[in-house]
Amino acid sequence: MKREWEGESIVILDFGSQYTQLIARRIRAESVFSVILPHSAGIEEIMAENPKGLVLSGGPADLTEENALRLEVDIYSLGVPVLGICYGMQLISQMKGAELERADHREYGHTKIEADTDSALFRGTPVEQKVWMSHGVRLKSIPAGFRAIASSVGCPIAAMSNDEERIYGLQFHPEVFHTENGIEILQNFLFEICCCDKVWSSKSFVELEVLRIRERVGDARVLCAVSGGVDSSVMAALVDRAIGKQLVPVFVDNGLLRENEAEEVREILAGCLTTDLVFVDAADEFLSRLNGITDPEEKRKIIGTAFIDIFERESEKHGPFAFLAQGTLYPDVIESRSTFGPSDTIKSHHNVGGLPDEMSFELIEPLSLLFKDEVREVGKFLDLPAVQIERHPFPGPGLAVRVPGAIVREDLDLLRRVDRIFIDGLRREGLYDDVWQAFAVLLPVRSVGVMGDERTYQKAAVLRAVTSTDGMTADWARLPYDFLQDIANEIINKVDGVNRVVYDISSKPPSTIEWE
Ligand code: XMP
Repeated sequence: MKREWEGESIVILDFGSQYTQLIARRIRAESVFSVILPHSAGIEEIMAENPKGLVLSGGPADLTEENALRLEVDIYSLGVPVLGICYGMQLISQMKGAELERADHREYGHTKIEADTDSALFRGTPVEQKVWMSHGVRLKSIPAGFRAIASSVGCPIAAMSNDEERIYGLQFHPEVFHTENGIEILQNFLFEICCCDKVWSSKSFVELEVLRIRERVGDARVLCAVSGGVDSSVMAALVDRAIGKQLVPVFVDNGLLRENEAEEVREILAGCLTTDLVFVDAADEFLSRLNGITDPEEKRKIIGTAFIDIFERESEKHGPFAFLAQGTLYPDVIESRSTFGPSDTIKSHHNVGGLPDEMSFELIEPLSLLFKDEVREVGKFLDLPAVQIERHPFPGPGLAVRVPGAIVREDLDLLRRVDRIFIDGLRREGLYDDVWQAFAVLLPVRSVGVMGDERTYQKAAVLRAVTSTDGMTADWARLPYDFLQDIANEIINKVDGVNRVVYDISSKPPSTIEWE
């Protein structure tokens, strides 16, 4: 079954650019729904999205080569405006018979263009504007029926249009922040050229999703796991709004959470769900299974298996369930290229780590069309408290991967106290939202110190704070020295058992964000 989105959309055909998701997000930020489909999508697949316009993304391939990615369908038969960006523009040109050539020098970064501000795409923008170029191939000639509407020194055809056929091309990237008038150019495409309406919003999303979930679920019951993270909380709040007490959210306290976290999550969710949370205190079970285990991968496996065992037990206790709801987001969908629809019966659950074969549910993934920032917006609309929505990511295996080596309860307690001081400090100084993630690690290393007249021989704690956009790459956060000094002092003074604090200045790659 196809997803039946009632609104209209802009379809982005993906040729593999690192910026493709950014194009979709920029368009949605204008209250126009956009979807990303693979460049190989068929006409029916594209039409199912009810497109008001089509964008061909950039891409890393070289169109002067034979086996570069090309279109497999006649997109012009759709009768909607088309915008090619970078590779997309080159592809349109090549298909329309123009010649491409390798540029004398590859053009990367800031470039100044002169734009024809009478053209629909550049209307309301300045003649001279700074744009972000990233290409090694350019147009040698312009295809018949097109005219150049912008040029730069290195690229005489920096943008082109065929107004009659409503086909446009930009050699630069309007979606990136460095293109000064990028948003205006995209707005012109959306509203002047495609005549889109501003109908996409958290409100319209929630209203429609609630109806869809109700229709699919009927009077069946739905199981879900909540971790306290943003995605599962928003997912549960949304499904709760649709079906209330037919939803059974299970929260497993694995004993590896931060200080008071289990209680805080319980309170927050109790405040925004109408259904009752199933709270499972499984700390002892997890810790006894982890006893003496030092290998990071083994720790993860044990935690994953323990979670499944407990989740299965709870599912039997509270079941039967026809559906499992989970907080999968759009980037996962794009990356795995999964199809929409309820027919995907799962045997494995990436957030949980693989459910056993005999547990098979139909899957409900109500956030699978959303980017993270949109999930936060939906969370706000559903009245989740800001502190829940702006939370840093937290790994499934919890503090187990922040205590290198064997895990004992006392070390977890020490780590919780260190972590609390660090996080509270970040919040107090208004630094929490500036970093992607911040946390402490307790090292299995003792060092000598002196406190008052006494020699100490205690553990060392690491503070880690990183900036990132997606967790795939990360840089260490340049937190102010004075702040780090105050936090280190506070930790050493207040946490008996830690006499040394170090700050992790490794980036990812080559390091990872977590220590294990
Ligand atoms: P790394 O350490 O791989 O982490 O650079 C990248 C991001 O993923 C989080 N992370 C996990 N999240 N289960 C999760 O749900 C895990 O096993 C896991 N390991 C790492 C990490 O906190 C960071 O945000």
